[in-house]
Amino acid sequence: MLKALRYLKPFWLSVIAIICLVFGQVQCELALPDYMSNIMTYGIQYGGITSSTPTALRSSTFEHMKLFMSEEDQSILESSYSRISMGDESYLAKYPEAANQDIYVVNDPKADLSGLTEKPFLIVSMLSQKDMLDQMGLSSEDQLYASLAAQPKMTEQIQSSAEEKIAGYTDANLEAAEIMLLKNEYSALGMNADAMQSSYLWQEGGWMLLITLLGSLCAAAAAYLSSRTATGACRNMRADVFKKVESFSSEEFSHFSTASLITRTTNDIQQVQQVLTMLLRIVLFAPFMGFTALLKVIRYPSMVGLLGWVLLIIFALLMITFSVTLPKFKIIQKLVDRLNLVTREQLSGMLVIRAFNNQKTEEKRFDGVNTDITKVNIFVNRAMASIMPVMQFLMSGISILIIWFGAKQIDLGAMQIGEMMAFLQYSMQVLISFMVIAMIFIMIPRSSVSAQRIFQVLETDPTIVDSKNPKSLPAGNRTITFDDVCFKYPNAEENVLEHISFHADPGETVAFIGSTGSGKSTLINLIPRFFDVTCGSIRYGDVDIHDVTMKDLRSRIGYVPQKGVLFSGTIESNLKYADENASDAVIENALDVSQSKEFVDQMPDGVKEKISEGGSNVSGGQKQRLSIARALTKNAQIYIFDDTFSALDYKTDAQLREALAGMIAKTHSTVFIVAQRISSIMHADRIIVLDQGRIAGIGTHDELIKNCRVYQEIAYSQLSREELKQA
Ligand SMILES: Nc1ncnc2c1ncn2[C@@H]1O[C@H](COP(=O)(O)OP(=O)(O)OP(=O)(O)O)[C@@H](O)[C@H]1O
Ligand SMILES: [Mg+2]
Repeated sequence: MLKALRYLKPFWLSVIAIICLVFGQVQCELALPDYMSNIMTYGIQYGGITSSTPTALRSSTFEHMKLFMSEEDQSILESSYSRISMGDESYLAKYPEAANQDIYVVNDPKADLSGLTEKPFLIVSMLSQKDMLDQMGLSSEDQLYASLAAQPKMTEQIQSSAEEKIAGYTDANLEAAEIMLLKNEYSALGMNADAMQSSYLWQEGGWMLLITLLGSLCAAAAAYLSSRTATGACRNMRADVFKKVESFSSEEFSHFSTASLITRTTNDIQQVQQVLTMLLRIVLFAPFMGFTALLKVIRYPSMVGLLGWVLLIIFALLMITFSVTLPKFKIIQKLVDRLNLVTREQLSGMLVIRAFNNQKTEEKRFDGVNTDITKVNIFVNRAMASIMPVMQFLMSGISILIIWFGAKQIDLGAMQIGEMMAFLQYSMQVLISFMVIAMIFIMIPRSSVSAQRIFQVLETDPTIVDSKNPKSLPAGNRTITFDDVCFKYPNAEENVLEHISFHADPGETVAFIGSTGSGKSTLINLIPRFFDVTCGSIRYGDVDIHDVTMKDLRSRIGYVPQKGVLFSGTIESNLKYADENASDAVIENALDVSQSKEFVDQMPDGVKEKISEGGSNVSGGQKQRLSIARALTKNAQIYIFDDTFSALDYKTDAQLREALAGMIAKTHSTVFIVAQRISSIMHADRIIVLDQGRIAGIGTHDELIKNCRVYQEIAYSQLSREELKQA
């Protein structure tokens, strides 16, 4: 999988952008619970009062507070607040009661003076409560302060008993009490509590909305970029795989199997692409998120232990599921290979299947693979799906536990409701990112199965390669020489060809004849280097064909395979496959020589006639003649016809050979013909008789008929003695 990452290199800019966007998204998402906590605590519980430092005080409260302060504190207090005299117009809007009394307004609304004001304010506020006064047997506050002024001892007493009480409170409770009492003070000043609360809620809510919007934008942009990057990377990967497969020789093809190569270029790359997209977004997102959320959660150590346990359970659960499902992924990809193989074979052999009435057996075969793959998929999906409800259960469970323990903490005054809610959300985020990280850990091995299969292809070196310092082929026509060539198919035990030596001069026609399986196709496939010789050498002029580039070599060869192959398109596009710049005259001539002209002219669209996939809309003989025409369109120095005349009737065969001879006389090309029929090759300059991979005879027809037993056997089985003599 790591190797697949190098395909991201060309997209490094996008990757950096994605990292930044994901980081932004995490920051946004993690800011929200804090805002929510503030809204709960300050917005709702405290009615929009955010600080326990009084912003304004009645002058009576202010003076009374001073009674419970040291002289030093008194002077700080004096300097921190300004006295506004009764009826000062500019303050009436905010503090309507300033019309009836003097007030004190804090100089710097942001300053934190709670250490200074908290206790005196609490004491003064408590003393102003009616039941407090009743307890002390006093009828009014004025009476209380009058008696306090008279007896300083009493002040001290009250102060110390209040401080004792306060010491029993937690900070959170103290703040809560302070803010509750501040509310009373503010309403005594005529301040609008509703307006204060709603303005706070609007402000915080507005921020939340903005942050959410920003987070969504980041998420959308990251998603867009990561899909683009992943698809781009996989497009390049697919191109590379295809290029590689093109360079494969038959050996590599049989090693991988065509079906598997198709799965690898499509399905496997698809898997990698999916994971890459996920990876780009989530692999960064989850750890960022989890880690940052964890930092926030750690502020409440009493509850972190709980979270730890749940994480452990989830971890164990995921590990069990993954260890069960992981081996199955490899099996799935193999089964997809098999499904492809069976489908390909059945579709291309449909006619044979029908002819032998084997639909039922084939259905069963297909059904077998299909059921296998379905079973494994169902198993894997069930296992994966069962994680979800369990996770849901655990998440709900931990929510209940957090609320349970949180409620106790709140009761003890160690936590605010808003804080508990925030903790709950952060915990969920930790859990979710943990789950996502775990998910990534399954997805990576899963796709690494696919990545491995892809890189197996990419890292296979084709067995047939150009030499490091290629020579160039000699210009013009040169003699082709086989010098004691032997050949063994890869993985085969015995040589298919042994001690093959002959030469073919420019302008000569060399024919090969022999029973099926005698090695004719094998021999001529060595010329375009579809395979490399096992020993001996093949020379073009005086250059070993091993030492030139395949491109150079093949550019001189017009090859017609034993089995005609056409591509979808038109007749013209198929012929131009040999030479895209071929002129109309060349094409005309090629059709003429290959005896295709007649049937092509009869087609409604002539050379523009459509050829369907695999050339299925032309007959076998027509296909073969078009294959010949394609080879002839290329002005080649070597022509190779592998048993291409066998599908032609005798008359067409003869006409074709005659036209071909006329063309060769002009171009002076070397021609290699493989044939089954003596009549097709009788006139060749040199006939090579192959028998079980060895040359049984070389010579002209006349020479061979006299002294080559194998040739005689073939000849007599096909023609009467008279016919042979005439010829
Ligand atoms: N790809 C391959 N791998 C292994 N053995 C092969 C391969 N292709 C052919 N053979 C073997 O090599 C031998 C020669 O095959 P070849 O195709 O050259 O015969 P041929 O003379 O062209 O026969 P035909 O007249 O039927 O076309 C055969 O015995 C065949 O089994
Ligand atoms: Mg053959």
